[in-house]
Amino acid sequence: MATALITGGTSGIGAAFARTLAGRGDDLVLVARNGDRLAEMATELKERHAVSVETIVADLAERSDVVGIAERLASSEQPIDLLVSNAGFGVRTKLTAADTTPHEHAIDVMIRAVLMLGAAAGRAMRQRGTGTIINVSSTAGFMTMGNYSAIKAWVTAYSESLANELHGSGVRVVALCPGWVRTEFHERADLNTSSIPQFLWLDADRLVVACLKDADAGKVISIPSKRYKVLMTICEHLPHRTLRAVSRALTSRRR
Ligand SMILES: NC(=O)c1ccc[n+]([C@@H]2O[C@H](COP(=O)([O-])OP(=O)(O)OC[C@H]3O[C@@H](n4cnc5c(N)ncnc54)[C@H](OP(=O)(O)O)[C@@H]3O)[C@@H](O)[C@H]2O)c1
Repeated sequence: MATALITGGTSGIGAAFARTLAGRGDDLVLVARNGDRLAEMATELKERHAVSVETIVADLAERSDVVGIAERLASSEQPIDLLVSNAGFGVRTKLTAADTTPHEHAIDVMIRAVLMLGAAAGRAMRQRGTGTIINVSSTAGFMTMGNYSAIKAWVTAYSESLANELHGSGVRVVALCPGWVRTEFHERADLNTSSIPQFLWLDADRLVVACLKDADAGKVISIPSKRYKVLMTICEHLPHRTLRAVSRALTSRRR
């Protein structure tokens, strides 16, 4: 029986990972800030799937909280077989804003925490010769739409680098790059999604199934759905100035 640790496991993509993994019999460790939602999720999963669910209330913007999760990942008595570094949020603040704290906060949660947890999980899993690390990135990382794009480009490049470092160790690393997924993400970031065509929305449960399949197949970059695979292949081949113009147009429509 495997145990998975999921950051942001109470909502959206993280909750979909929790339900799918519990459904296949995995025990879980769920991490988020809201203790009530964590408790609700744990009760639901235990009742429905008869798995063990540990919950950790932590704010990944706080370095000391991340150190606590890293220690849990390092445990040899209760090993973690799968880390899903998923917690994150949208960032709308302009890069030239006088107050850069929203950007620093985003970097703490979506870069520093991902780096620290990946290091802890990578070391423990390498020692055991097995394990999987899934870092939730975004197709936004292939675009140039502000700090969020820059952060997710880092998550993808970091995951590929970690995969290289752990190559041959028995540890798999995947950068999950979703397109638009219906979750609380857009409401929390106050993003206007009215101009996003229906066909670009992905279902979180199907996304997770596709990602786990890609992880089993040894893929390092997982881009679920044919439509986003095609779109990202086009992005890869576009001249950078065209990609920047498309990014500008998309950014202005979302504000
Ligand atoms: N939805 C999309 O369209 C989309 C597309 C591409 C990539 N993504 C990425 O997918 C990941 C999950 O997003 P989602 O769409 O599922 O969003 P969501 O529904 O808003 O869920 C976010 C989760 O992260 C947790 N979280 C947020 N800040 C945290 C912090 N400082 N410390 C600990 N936990 C924190 C939240 O719980 P608490 O509030 O209780 O802490 C919640 O469980 C993110 O990394 C996001 O960038 C989303």
